[in-house]
Amino acid sequence: MDDLNSLGLRTRAGKVHILDQQRLPQELVWLNIETTDDMVRAIVDLKVRGAPLIGVAAALWLGRLAEGGCSQQSWLEQAQQLRAARPTAVNLAWAVDRLVAVSEPWNPAQINALAITVFNEDVEQCHRIGEIGADLIQDGDSVMTHCNAGALATAGIGTAVGVLAAAKARGQLFSVIAGETRPLLQGARLTAWELRQLDIPHRLICDSAAAFMMSRGEVDKIVVGADRIAANGDVANKIGTYALAVAASHHGIPFYVAAPWSTVDITAAGGADIPIEWREQEEVLGAAGSFGNVRWAAPGSEAANPAFDITPAALITGWIFEHGLFLDPAEIVAPQSGGVVGP
Ligand code: MRU
Repeated sequence: MDDLNSLGLRTRAGKVHILDQQRLPQELVWLNIETTDDMVRAIVDLKVRGAPLIGVAAALWLGRLAEGGCSQQSWLEQAQQLRAARPTAVNLAWAVDRLVAVSEPWNPAQINALAITVFNEDVEQCHRIGEIGADLIQDGDSVMTHCNAGALATAGIGTAVGVLAAAKARGQLFSVIAGETRPLLQGARLTAWELRQLDIPHRLICDSAAAFMMSRGEVDKIVVGADRIAANGDVANKIGTYALAVAASHHGIPFYVAAPWSTVDITAAGGADIPIEWREQEEVLGAAGSFGNVRWAAPGSEAANPAFDITPAALITGWIFEHGLFLDPAEIVAPQSGGVVGP
């Protein structure tokens, strides 16, 4: 079997390796995943992250586990353990459920083959999202993005950053404003790193500078990724996305969401049905791990740390899927323009 390669995930001789995103951009460290606990911990700690990529990573690991001689019963239990690692990005549950659906009768080779298909499909979907989204970018544009919805978050070129990469490949001249994305700084650490590699001019801003930049006419459009899209078009994405959409609406700035269809959860009627991950207070009260060990909040202070928020469909100009640009959320349940319901 050929090795699989993406920016943040790869296989070597059937083994699964992830690039430790908590150590980027200072260090490039590949971690060998040897147990399901390793993969769960890597997902919880955001060493591997981004909605599509955690689904692909879980799939590849489950493929290897099956082929490595695990019993069907134990494999099913470990699949459920992985599925529960993070609650908001539906791609994780979607990928695990896809593999579980072919696990009876027990056929490890079939499971692993499907895992590889999940990887390859994501590469292809990112490519198509990029091409469709690049049509929206014009020369001279200043495009804002948030968090990291790039190659590090998918098996392919990314979703929101994939749009930028495709526009760059076409020779379009534009620049990017990337929000740093407190508390874990995916924008400052990861998106800026990717944009450097893509040679796309960019400026980082504090998240709290976004509305002011819009008010000064510094932002022409916004493109972000998604962790889950409800049937009515409401979008869960990294905390801060909703604030961007509110400010964009106030300033008349188009706001686009780019995502593969595997991010749509047709069983969630609206944003209120999407589970939101709340993370440790320590991430807000200070910084830990590879950021150093510092606490800046006063002893005794408490923090609230929702990792995602919900942007209502009414604030979204368009949804960029691999099968087209949807301008009306009704298309998500009754797709026009060649769209399909379900994965
Ligand atoms: O907590 P993270 O870093 O996994 O959050 C990632 C995001 O919010 C991304 O925008 C989303 O997963 C889309 S990635 C293509």
